[in-house]
Amino acid sequence: MSALSHHRPEKPILVVDFGAQYAQLIARRVREAHVYSEIVSPKSAEELLSLNPQGIILSGGPSSVYAEGAPSIDPKIYESNIPILGICYGAQLIAKDLGGKVSKTDKGEYGRTLLEINKERRSELFNDIPDEIEVWMSHSDAISEVPPGFVMTSSTKLAPVASFENSQMDIYGTQFHPEVVHSQFGQELIKSFLFKVCDAKRNWTSISVIDNAVQAIKEQVKGGKVLCALSGGVDSAVAAALVHKAVGDQLTCVFVDTGLMRSNEGTQVERAFERDFNVDLVHVKAEDRFLEALSDVTDPETKRKTIGELFIRIFEEVARDHSDAKFLVQGTLYPDVVESGEGESAVIKSHHNVGGLPEDMDLELVEPLRLLFKDEVRAVGSELGLPDEITWRQPFPGPGLAVRIIGEVTRERTEILRKADAIVVEEIHKYGLDRDLWQYFAVLPAIRSVGVMGDGRTYAYPVIIRAVTSEDAMTADWARLPYEVLEVISSRLISEVPGINRVAYDITSKPPGTIEWE
Ligand code: XMP
Repeated sequence: MSALSHHRPEKPILVVDFGAQYAQLIARRVREAHVYSEIVSPKSAEELLSLNPQGIILSGGPSSVYAEGAPSIDPKIYESNIPILGICYGAQLIAKDLGGKVSKTDKGEYGRTLLEINKERRSELFNDIPDEIEVWMSHSDAISEVPPGFVMTSSTKLAPVASFENSQMDIYGTQFHPEVVHSQFGQELIKSFLFKVCDAKRNWTSISVIDNAVQAIKEQVKGGKVLCALSGGVDSAVAAALVHKAVGDQLTCVFVDTGLMRSNEGTQVERAFERDFNVDLVHVKAEDRFLEALSDVTDPETKRKTIGELFIRIFEEVARDHSDAKFLVQGTLYPDVVESGEGESAVIKSHHNVGGLPEDMDLELVEPLRLLFKDEVRAVGSELGLPDEITWRQPFPGPGLAVRIIGEVTRERTEILRKADAIVVEEIHKYGLDRDLWQYFAVLPAIRSVGVMGDGRTYAYPVIIRAVTSEDAMTADWARLPYEVLEVISSRLISEVPGINRVAYDITSKPPGTIEWE
């Protein structure tokens, strides 16, 4: 069991996950209102109530409530006096369970839809918002009749019951998705449920997260020595900073410079940790070893494996010098915990964990970020005094630039890509676009094309610019970067990076593309 499970704030808002991607988004929105939320699978009413919730939100899901094997909730929960909000599938489930009607529709309703609020019987959830708003719909079945004792509180053209409630019982349902940014006043609706209906306590701030984590780390680690692999990314940096705050010089950080890092990454890590935090930092410069291991490797999976294995070997070498260490810090985040199923087990995804635990090393994991979403990790990092250049770092794959060089990784190609990437990053920052984008970087395919520069013909590499918007990396859209920005990046790449004579922009969303090229 993770030590942090003992330090959850009391009285969570439970988000019951009915199997779509919406549960995580709902949980994040609740936490953005500074109320602690936890994602749970549909358990028995007793189990849910034993978690001492201050409110329960039933999420959306892909099923039809009448389908065989469709997930359900223990109906005893409706008599528990705990406020309940059902969203989409969750709302349909409430309607069905309590005697209303859910019917099939011909077309369903998808995307932005105009919602008309029932003014005769205005819901507490719709106080202080206009009578007509745009909301996000995504359903094929629709609630056609509210259960006895309930009232309809809003409708749309195709959904006669877009929301309904029984305020005596504190049970509410919305067919639309208030958690999605395209729903106007969605966050206000969630806040109204939290603060007007549940009377929720504001028990979730960066400061309370830090206090809880520090206490949990101290209890777990006691006087033991701790190792932490820093990757340059935000997760390992914040995890290390938390552990350092808790146990100071019991922590040793290891930064393995694979030579596949972005420009200045090593210097930034040294500056932040060694200089500002006074952390004991072992900086291993291993570029030559990685390049040698990667020579002739072109297959993406083999690349990842080669890098992962060498990384672990080098980490083990350092660990041997610190054989008194008992603990290893791991930057596991809440979504990984949720996706691994129900929270308690420490599952490590090989894909996302190049710096994972060497199998035969006897180190206990310290996972101070197990309760946090990515945006919360950033907020905690800032609160701890980490510089923006680290806390606002875009995600970067463990295998680094190697999965952005298509074909063999060589020193020359790595240098070209590093320079190109730095230019992309610099210009995106200059235009203030960085916080709107999930990732923005350069890709170098190992092909050459003909061009002309000055008086001569060139035969050099193209660079591909990749910039995407995303909420969680599960899906992504290519960013509509202004032409002006693309133009500046393109001309800087060609004039400042020798070896490049052409620039392309990747206009593929995910799916069907992935964010990275390998
Ligand atoms: P894809 O390319 O699958 O990537 O759309 C989704 C997100 O994951 C990042 N990524 C990785 N992160 N180790 C990591 O820690 C990896 O091996 C890895 N591969 C991809 C990617 O940058 C994107 O944010």
